[in-house]
Amino acid sequence: MAAPRAMALCLIEVALLIYAAAAATSYSNHTVGGDAGWFFNSTTNKTSADYNAWAANQTFNLGDYLIFNTNTNQTVIQTYNTTTYNSCSMDDSLDTDTFQYDGGNNEFGSAVVISVPLTIEGTQYYFSDADDGKQCQHGMAFEIKVTHGLGLPPSLNQPPPPPYVPPPEPADQAQTPPITVVTSPPSGGMRTSANFSWLLLVLVLVSFLA
Ligand SMILES: *[C@@H]1O[C@H](CO)[C@@H](O)[C@H](O)[C@H]1NC(C)=O
Ligand SMILES: *[C@@H]1O[C@H](CO)[C@@H](O)[C@H](O)[C@H]1NC(C)=O
Ligand SMILES: *[C@@H]1O[C@H](CO)[C@@H](O)[C@H](O)[C@H]1NC(C)=O
Ligand SMILES: *[C@@H]1O[C@H](CO)[C@@H](O)[C@H](O)[C@H]1NC(C)=O
Ligand SMILES: *[C@@H]1O[C@H](CO)[C@@H](O)[C@H](O)[C@H]1NC(C)=O
Ligand SMILES: *[C@@H]1O[C@H](CO)[C@@H](O)[C@H](O)[C@H]1NC(C)=O
Ligand SMILES: *[C@@H]1O[C@H](CO)[C@@H](O)[C@H](O)[C@H]1NC(C)=O
Repeated sequence: MAAPRAMALCLIEVALLIYAAAAATSYSNHTVGGDAGWFFNSTTNKTSADYNAWAANQTFNLGDYLIFNTNTNQTVIQTYNTTTYNSCSMDDSLDTDTFQYDGGNNEFGSAVVISVPLTIEGTQYYFSDADDGKQCQHGMAFEIKVTHGLGLPPSLNQPPPPPYVPPPEPADQAQTPPITVVTSPPSGGMRTSANFSWLLLVLVLVSFLA
């Protein structure tokens, strides 16, 4: 009886590990390039970090932020369009798939911190189009894949990119925002409890076996 019992315990551990790995437990802020930040030296044509290598070592989830520690000599362009990304330029880009984030300061070399919330799942790209694309061509560019994780937190639930469609009846408007805010946490909670009940079921079955 000892062997099946050990095996059952092993299965529980594997189930718990898989669960822990699959479920994000909180939102993260990812500082782009780590301590090196988001900088380009236009004398040497060198980036301060290898951004694709940096990105490959992170897990990006909905509701996380990218934090660009930089100065106004670099830009932060977000795009969902591979053509725009490969061109290193915003010139022919569409307003619907490409966005520039700026710290609101136009003076050369002023320190800025730019926070970009991740609000859409899937592949997206970031680059600096400064110096007529030279920065991007020399590595101020990277790709990330955003996974679902916990889903969007209420604070980011109606971000600008997927446009908010107002309710048709003006009379309903007063009631709609509270309803929207209340709806999303329970649906997240139900998913969590569904997952936990599955785990519980495994635990119960296993204790019967053992
Ligand atoms: C992450 O960044 C956002 C935007 O700057 C900020 O509001 C939030 O407090 C940060 N969260 C953590 C855990 O640092
Ligand atoms: C760029 O690199 C050169 C050579 O390493 C260095 O002298 C210069 O200070 C750097 N410029 C900036 C803005 O970091
Ligand atoms: C930097 O790159 C540009 C082209 O993007 C090139 O003309 C220039 O010579 C390069 N400078 C150095 C120091 O490599
Ligand atoms: C990710 O970064 C950590 C800390 O720098 C390092 O120990 C680890 O090997 C890296 N992982 C990958 C897959 O690059
Ligand atoms: C990407 O942007 C280009 C313009 O730069 C546009 O012609 C093209 O249709 C866009 N691609 C998609 C998939 O939207
Ligand atoms: C920013 O760019 C300007 C103009 O190219 C240059 O003179 C200055 O040294 C740069 N500053 C930093 C901090 O990179
Ligand atoms: C378990 O949780 C994950 C992540 O929240 C979710 O994608 C999945 O649908 C859930 N599974 C069940 C059975 O609810």
